[in-house]
Formats: sequence, C-alpha cells, structure tokens
Amino acid sequence: MSLGMTSLEPIATTTVRTRWRRIVTPIPAPESISRIERLRQVEPQSMAGMPPILWHEAEGFLVRDAFGNQWIDLTSGIVLANAGHAHPRIVQAIREATEQRLLATYAFPSEPRLRLLEKLVALSPIPDSKAILYSSGTEATECSLMLMRRHGQRIHPEKVGILSLAGNYHGRTLAAQLASGTPQPTDWIARERVDHFQIPAPNCLACPWGRTHYEQCGENCFHAGLETLVARGIDLDRIAGLILEPVPGWTTVPIPSDFAAAASAWAKQQDCLLAFDEIQCGCGRTGTFFGGEHLGVTPRIKGDRSNLCEAPSGPFRKIGPVPFCPDLIVLGKGLSSSLPVSAVIGRAEILDLPLPGEMSSTHGGNPVCAAASLANLHVLEDEELIEASARTGATVLERLRSLESEFPDHVRAVQGVGLFLSIHLRQPGTNTPDVQLADAVAEEAVRRGVLMFTTGRGYLKFTPPLCIELAAALEAADVIRDCLTEGIRTK
Ligand SMILES: Cc1ncc(COP(=O)(O)O)c(C=O)c1O
Repeated sequence: MSLGMTSLEPIATTTVRTRWRRIVTPIPAPESISRIERLRQVEPQSMAGMPPILWHEAEGFLVRDAFGNQWIDLTSGIVLANAGHAHPRIVQAIREATEQRLLATYAFPSEPRLRLLEKLVALSPIPDSKAILYSSGTEATECSLMLMRRHGQRIHPEKVGILSLAGNYHGRTLAAQLASGTPQPTDWIARERVDHFQIPAPNCLACPWGRTHYEQCGENCFHAGLETLVARGIDLDRIAGLILEPVPGWTTVPIPSDFAAAASAWAKQQDCLLAFDEIQCGCGRTGTFFGGEHLGVTPRIKGDRSNLCEAPSGPFRKIGPVPFCPDLIVLGKGLSSSLPVSAVIGRAEILDLPLPGEMSSTHGGNPVCAAASLANLHVLEDEELIEASARTGATVLERLRSLESEFPDHVRAVQGVGLFLSIHLRQPGTNTPDVQLADAVAEEAVRRGVLMFTTGRGYLKFTPPLCIELAAALEAADVIRDCLTEGIRTK
C-alpha cells in the first residue's frame, strides 16, 4: 500500500471545474486534516489505506467533501453503490421503514424480510431455492462454507475440506480468510490444519503453468491444480466444497468457462458443493445480474458473445453438455447499494441442513436494511442499470484499451466486463505489476477530481456506480490517461 496516499501532508492542486469534478483545495483539504488525525488516533492503522478524503455527501456517481471538492466516484464505495449513492427510492424506502417504527426483528417473521427473500428466490438461477440474509459479505461467505462442510459431513464425518482459488477474496472472518488467497500475511492461518486447500487461480495474466495465452486450457488448469494437491498427499475425497469468484475482483474478467465447467463436473462427481462468491461481481456490476452468467463466453471478453447459449431456465448459461449452476450463491455489497445486507441463496435441501436456531444472525434481514435492498433491486431493474452497466462499460473499455497501445511498456492489459474494469500496469520489460505507478496514478486522479482507491497490487480499478453518465465515465477515463502520462513522466 502506498504510504503517499495515507500521508496527511496537503499537496497543492490545480483548480478543476467541470460539470462533474470540482477541486478547489489542496488534497487532503487542510480543514479535514485534524479530523482525519483524530480518526487515526482512535482506529487501527489498517483503516488508513484509502485516499484521505473526508466524505461528506455521496449522491449518484458523485462524492463530495464539506470543503467544496467533488469527485466522479470510480470506487462505488468499494464496489457497493451499484444503483448509485443515496438513490432517492432507496432513501425513501429507508425513511418509510423507519417511520413504520420497526427497526429490528431478529429472526421473528417480518414483512420486509419476506418480500426481499421472495425477490431473491425469484431471481435465483438455482432450482428450488431458499435464501438467508446477513449483514456483511464475510458473514454470508462464512455461512456458505459452513453449509458445504455440513453437507460433506453427512456423506462422511471427515468430508469437511474446503477448496478455493489462490488470489480470490472472500472476507475477513476466519473461515472466509482461510478460503481467501489475498497477498496479506496469512501465516497465522495454518490453513491446511483445518482442511482448507487452495489451487492456483486460472488467471491468464499470470498463468500458473507458464503459458503465454489462453488455449482452451481451463479444464487442464483445474485438473493440474488438483494434481498438486494429490502430489502432496491430500485426499480429495475429503473436500466438501469449492468456493470461487466467477468474476474475480482483481482481474475483473470471468474465469475461463472451461475451468468453471471442469470444476462443476468434478464437484458433482465428488459429491461436493460449488459456491459462487458474487459479493463483488453480482447485482448487475458486470452487465448481467449474476457474474456467473458470463461463464459461457471465452475468458478474454472482446464483445464476442456468439458462443453464449441460453440455459433452459434461469440466467446461467449452458457450457457444452454441462448445465451450469452452482449449488450456492453469495451476494452482498450491491445487493442494497447502501445499508449492510448480504445473502446466501441455494438449494433448499442444503439451506435446510441446520436446524431451527442453528443458522441466524441478530441483524440478518433487519427490516430497514431489507427495505433498502428491495428498493435497490427494483431500481436496478426499473432503471435498466444492468443494461447500462454493459453498455457504458463496453464504451469505456474501448477508450481505456487505447492505453495498451499508447503505453505498451507500462500497460499490460485493460480488461473487464460491464462497469467492472481494471487496468494492469507493469514494470517496463517485465510482467511484474507496477504497484508504485498504479498507486501514484490513483493518487493523482484523486487530486484531479476522480475518486479511485489504491490496490497495492499494481492495477487500477474502474468501478463507478452503474448509473454513471457515459460522458462522465469517459471524462474519468481521460483523467486516468493524463495521470498515467504524468506518472510515467515523473517516475
Ligand atoms: C468477493 C468478495 N467476497 C467477500 C467480501 C467480503 O465482504 P464484506 O467486506 O462485506 O465482509 C468481499 C469484499 O470486498 C468481496 O469482494
């Protein structure tokens, strides 16, 4: 993580005034500094990795501080505000829910929970679905892992292993971290002592098997990963479930469909369950409601959807003879675009494994949160924001792709689907990610009125609210280009 971004030394800016961007103070704004300092005194340094912007108001695709600055938001508050910040219909739903004077119900039946769950079950591509609500994404991940282990245990007491992909991210609670493969130190986890195993992710930008390009090799990639486990003496029969991000948050491209098909076929054959973590890629972010809908296309999306064929029911696609559908889907973030709501959707027989009282959460399905989430799902549908994500994303991707030819030494790839885009930077002459340059570009963009987050992994993420106007998205893309030019010049 770049230290420059967390520094509270104000850096002078050139005044920016466009229809959407307004920068009128140094960054961080001098008046914000004492408050950010006070915050740092009372919360751990783990919270200090983001640009030092004191958020005051966020509306649609714009974020404002209280000192006259306004940004085009490419973060969506960490890929959350799919419908836009503070959407009036979501605000209204929250207002009505609070005026109802029903602020918490725990697991007692409530109308808002009923309505949201009915909606989720109707959206689910999984036949005979039920769903359960939680607050954070990681809680929902945790629930899916627990369900997979319980399902496995019914087959054999030792069938409790969880398989996941290196580099995917599933949350911060213990089991979610066990399944994650993010670069933070994970030694303390001792993953394999608790039956969590990882195989390499099918990331064609950093092929774990040294290939230079994708050659319909997803099936081999999956099985080669399993072989590494077998070679280490791991009994695959003990694996109860496989969790993966169908469109990983950091590559922003769908995993190869043949990898997913092989994983699905293997899971079926092994009597183990498959869970899709759609916390980040779900709810319209990628131009389809579920990220998994992309798994019928080639991994390098080039706008060619000709090999997509409709599944007989539900939005998931058929891949060759394998009808593709996970057993569990985990949603969060864009499920409400606002208050904390997450969910696990899955086959009823799996969700019904825990007995009454064994799977619940105090705040899960909170009536105000449920009302916000339901309003959000209606907004995504009524305002055709999923289609907008696909349309706007495709145009922005085309604009950003020109960076590959303009800066071939520094830009390794620009890729993604819908408004789930990423720009991967490399150190010249290598394929090593250029962490410093990526963070410097994000920092400069913030000083020019485009809000980005630093990733510390050598890529820039372009994930605005799906309601962003095309002209604003293209303006932000042009700012990134200027910042990249500047970053390379001053490197
Ligand atoms: C794919 C994925 N899974 C799980 C999580 C964890 O969600 P939360 O931060 O709401 O616990 C995240 C959050 O970034 C995520 O991107």
